This record gives sequence, C-alpha cells and structure tokens, in this order.
Amino acid sequence: MTNHCTHESDKNAAADYTPLVTNPGREVVVALEARAAGWDIGGGHKALDGWSYNGITPGPTIEARQGDTLVVRLTNRLDEPTTIHWHGLRLQPAMDGTESVQQAVAPGEAFEYRFALPDAGTFWYHPHANETVQLERGLYGVLVVHGPDEPQVDAERVLVFDDVRLDWRGRLAGPGGWLERHNGREGRVPLLNGRVRPELEMAAGQVERWRLVNTASARYVRFSLGGAPFRIIGTDGGLIEAPVDATEVLLAPADRVDLLVGPFEESQRLDIQSLEYNRGLGVKGTAVTFGTVRVGLSRRSVARISEKLRTIDPIAPPDAPVTREVRLGGRMSLRRGVDFMVNDEPHHHGQPVRVGELQVWDVINETPLDHPFHLHGFFFQVLAVNGEAPAYRSWEDTVNVPPKGRVKIAWMPDDRPGAWMAHCHILEHHAAGMMMHFEVVR
Ligand code: C2O
Ligand code: CU
Repeated sequence: MTNHCTHESDKNAAADYTPLVTNPGREVVVALEARAAGWDIGGGHKALDGWSYNGITPGPTIEARQGDTLVVRLTNRLDEPTTIHWHGLRLQPAMDGTESVQQAVAPGEAFEYRFALPDAGTFWYHPHANETVQLERGLYGVLVVHGPDEPQVDAERVLVFDDVRLDWRGRLAGPGGWLERHNGREGRVPLLNGRVRPELEMAAGQVERWRLVNTASARYVRFSLGGAPFRIIGTDGGLIEAPVDATEVLLAPADRVDLLVGPFEESQRLDIQSLEYNRGLGVKGTAVTFGTVRVGLSRRSVARISEKLRTIDPIAPPDAPVTREVRLGGRMSLRRGVDFMVNDEPHHHGQPVRVGELQVWDVINETPLDHPFHLHGFFFQVLAVNGEAPAYRSWEDTVNVPPKGRVKIAWMPDDRPGAWMAHCHILEHHAAGMMMHFEVVR
C-alpha cells in the first residue's frame, strides 16, 4: 500500500505563510530510493555496507529555485521503516518527515513529499527514523535552493563533511555502548562528499561559492582552508547581510555555512581541514584533513560580489523578555548509562506555542558537553551567546550551545499549526532523549 500525503494543510497555509513565494506550475520532481548499496569511500578501504539514496552517498544534490514546489517520491527498499526530514525547510508539519507527523514508510512502500520552497539557501535531507544507524550508513543528501539575487561566482560546489567508524575488519562498526551514547559516535575516518580525502581542483584566479554541510553524527568541524582567508556569506537560513572575512568557521553537527573561496594562485595546494576542537569530552581533539584543493591553470573570473547581500531585520531586541527556558541536561541511568533530557525529562513534551506570538527561548546547557540545538520548521535569530550578541545577524535552524552556557534565540511561529520538535543534533543524544515535542496552535 502506498501512503499519500493529504494536501489539505497546504491549502490553509498558502495564504498567511508570509515569506512564501510560489512559482505556480514550477515543480521539481525527484525520485529517491532508499536502498542498500556498496559505499566506496576510497582511501584503500573496502566498500562499506552502506545505505543510500539512489545508490550514492551523499544522495543526489537536489537543486531548485526559490518558490518552486519540490515533489519527492520516496521508495523504501531498506529492510526497516524510514522517512525523510527536510532539515531547515519551512514547510507544513505533515511534510516534516518525523514520526510525530507521519507513519514511517514501511519496507516496499512509498511516500510522496510535496512542499513549496520559500527560502533560498543550503539545506539537507536525512531520515528521521533510527537516525543513529541510517545516517551513519550514508543516508543523507543536500538540497540547494537558488534565490533570484545571488552573488555571481565562477563556480559553486557542495562540501559535505561526515565521518565513519570502522571495526577491525574495516566494516562499519556496530552499535556502540554507553560511551557512544554519552559522547556521540565519532569515527576516525573523515569523509568529504562520501570519500576519504578527495582532491578537488579549482582554477587559479577564480572565486567559488562553497556550500558546507556537516552531516556527521557528533563531529564538530572547525573548518579551515590551510589558514587561507575566505568570506562567510550564508548560514542555515540563507545569505547573511554582508560578507564576513574569516580564516576558520565552526560547523556543529547539522550546521551549514556558505563561503566565498579564492582567488588562489596557480599550483597552490590547500588543505581542507577541521582544526582541533574540544567539545567537552576532556580531550582536545586533533586536527583532521578532509581533503585537498589543487589550484590549476588560471582562468578569467566573472565573479561580482556586492558588499550588500541581503537585509535581515532584527526579530527582537537583545533584551527581549524570555518566554521559555529550555534546559539541556543529562543524568546517569543504571540501565542505559546515561539519559539526556530537556527540562528534566527525556523526550520532553513542552507547552504549545501560539501562531503570531514571538518566542524568545533561553536554551541553557546544564552539561559539560557542547550540544547543537536544532529547531524544526522555523528559523530563529540568535540574540546572545553567553550574554554576548553574535558577530553578525543571521537566520538559523541549528545553533551550538556551549558547555554550561546559554543561547538566547527568537523566532516567530507563523501559521503552520501542528506537531513540531526541537532537539540536540548529536544523533545519539537525540536518541537518548535530548529532545522536545511541542505544538504550534492557532
Ligand atoms: Cu536534521 Cu530532527 O533533524
Ligand atoms: Cu547533545
């Protein structure tokens, strides 16, 4: 039997869904098949027993234009149920791909996702069922939505950061114990676009837009390009207001960032690295090389970058009164080693929020570990991290909450009532209970 989505909810939403642009009749139609497939990561490793969309990891990069309708027909050829969550998309709850809003697609069955793409940016998709296994095995892909008014660059590419943990036979390691539940699964083998240390080629003299996505279960990527300067132009929710010069940028699990990279000189070589980062595990972590850029012959550049990318109006003043505290905590558990919680409860059920009522949440980390906090279906602005305003304004769906720290965020529930959730995007923490369900009500 096939599950068909109902389109009822689409109807009542269209009218009040403020930023929604639709291009009537313009649909991007994609067939995704979740299935087992040998995963050739290269680097002298044998092919892994991967699970993939359409036989490749990352799955196909879906490209569309802002305002298009995306239609994805998912067929499940795995031996277990699955769904697709559209990470970062402001869609109707029925299309969010969680078990709260749909029955997982059983083996052999299919489901059609259909929703409009209201925002330009770099998004991604992944299962929201048995995530610690399904993502680790390779089920993830990137969705790029192009806006009408993007910076003009010489080339664009997508860089997906992941890692895998292999056992002594060189196969994907089985489920870990309580330590993995506590720390999250971090593998020793770094993957860039599903491969071990690939070499990318880039023309000298050109400027590229790189869309970085961290799909790892638990690894933090403190991105560096061998120390070379680059410019940050976008985050989870699309372009920021003006380019920001940097030599490193942190991507917590599930984070995205868009960069302008180059121009470089002929025969330069640059390492794509993650610098050492301590996420509270008591070890400093080590720098990891994910790949290399080899700069080839020089080519003419047509890049034209304006210093004004977009306007982002502040959603709330920095001192806006907090409407809700969201405390991220943990406790020892005799049976499971550790439970993770929101407001003292694993898999917390929070109070509903009302459409049109500004939400100002203080997300408080009571643990000594970093946690990437992810809100489904809505963008927020970060008002403060440990009391300090962020360096630039942006729209986000994921933000790192530092150990024993706090992040104040603000977001507006627009008229998309239904079941939503927020959780830590370290997949093992999410599974161990660091998540909250809540309703958006009219
Ligand atoms: Cu990518 Cu519930 O998340
Ligand atoms: Cu966490």
